[in-house]
Amino acid sequence: MSADRDVFRAPKGTRDVLAPESDRWVELVARFADRARRFGYGLVVTPIFEHYEVFARIGETTDVVSKEMYDFFDKGERHLALRPEGTAGTVRAFVEHRPPTPWKVWYLAPNFRYERPQEGRYRQHFQLGVEALGSDDPQLDVEVIELLAGFYRDLGLRQVRLLVNSMGDAESRARYRAVLLAHWHAHADLLGDDLARAEANPLRILDSKRPDWLDMIERAPQIVEYLTDASAAAFGQVQAGLRDVGIDFEIAPRLVRGLDYYTGTVFEFQGLALAGSQNAIGGGGRLDGLVAEMGGPPTPAIGFGCGVERVLLACDAEGALPAPTGRVDAFVVDALATGDALVLLHELREAGIAADRAYGGRSLKKQWGAADKSGARFGVMLAPREFETGHVVVKDLATGEQTEVRRESVAAWLATRTPERTLPDQPGAPSR
Ligand code: HAM
Repeated sequence: MSADRDVFRAPKGTRDVLAPESDRWVELVARFADRARRFGYGLVVTPIFEHYEVFARIGETTDVVSKEMYDFFDKGERHLALRPEGTAGTVRAFVEHRPPTPWKVWYLAPNFRYERPQEGRYRQHFQLGVEALGSDDPQLDVEVIELLAGFYRDLGLRQVRLLVNSMGDAESRARYRAVLLAHWHAHADLLGDDLARAEANPLRILDSKRPDWLDMIERAPQIVEYLTDASAAAFGQVQAGLRDVGIDFEIAPRLVRGLDYYTGTVFEFQGLALAGSQNAIGGGGRLDGLVAEMGGPPTPAIGFGCGVERVLLACDAEGALPAPTGRVDAFVVDALATGDALVLLHELREAGIAADRAYGGRSLKKQWGAADKSGARFGVMLAPREFETGHVVVKDLATGEQTEVRRESVAAWLATRTPERTLPDQPGAPSR
């Protein structure tokens, strides 16, 4: 039955990630984790679902909460929702545990939004992100942006544009909302029923991509003109700091981001090699009010989320971060069938060499075929004649060149020729 076939497929808007694409995920996450560590951020892991109210704080007028949330009642009648983004749960965890500040954390997590799926827009997407809680220092804004800008650079992405804006403090936003609402009222005919949405939160109309509204949005007042002196000064410091660390940016006066918790600095990175509507490869900003809204002490904060799938699409478009050609360095070919292959593989792997084999007593021809397919640089053959004299045959699979290597030194021999996967540090050896 066709219905059955549909049931045994990944649900619409979700996807499986298999090797070799998943090898790139491993690389991507490793580079992010390394960068987060260098900036002093620790990993945080929060539940994939939370009480609905946690995510409602993202803003009842946002699409993410009002249209796209996967919420449900569990068997105990609790109203829960799958995480649509990483910030709300992280802030909830902070309020619950009250760790010392500054609390600087990073995460990798799947997020769920009931969107119209298309390339770069999924119902389940993964984000790498950070949140830094406990300081309103503009230098922290710079640090957070710098972390993400450097991550894109680490990946080899070049066609990246950074947009920044400021949502100002509460007073700036109150002033701006009043003039913005007056602007929407002046276009009540065009807005029709959406005027009610504009009244609930005038900022949300600015996110719209409706072609017939573009002109009206284009002529809307800009928040930078309504910033208080303090907010304007803080924004100035962020810009100066970005220049100091060599990060190019553009001011985007209409960038308000689609979530309600933003205050102060907001930013977005666009991958210019991607199609316009899905080119946001990361974004974030300050959320100085969210901790208090969830019942914690007033605690300023800033963070970002970066879409893993979109970053990889940007890498594809720019030819950056190619998938590795093979997962292993060495492939053991067994002509002995004595159990020595098992022991040799054990030794290689424990010595830090990535090594693989074929199973089930395959013919030598098939084993060499598997060695070629594995992408390994070397084939290591256990052959009767050489084994008797204490040797194995190592074959360079690219050139075909063969060398006899003593059985007990093959791990060291391979380690010196596979420089990216060197022997692990020995106990007592100076750490790198
Ligand atoms: P966001 O802009 O909604 O912000 O999402 C962050 C990033 O996740 C986007 O720039 C994009 O790369 C990716 N993304 C979002 N939705 C999808 C989707 N449906 N499919 C594929 N990728 C997607 C946030 O989520 C905030 N929590 C960021 C933040 C952290 N702000 C402060 N701290």
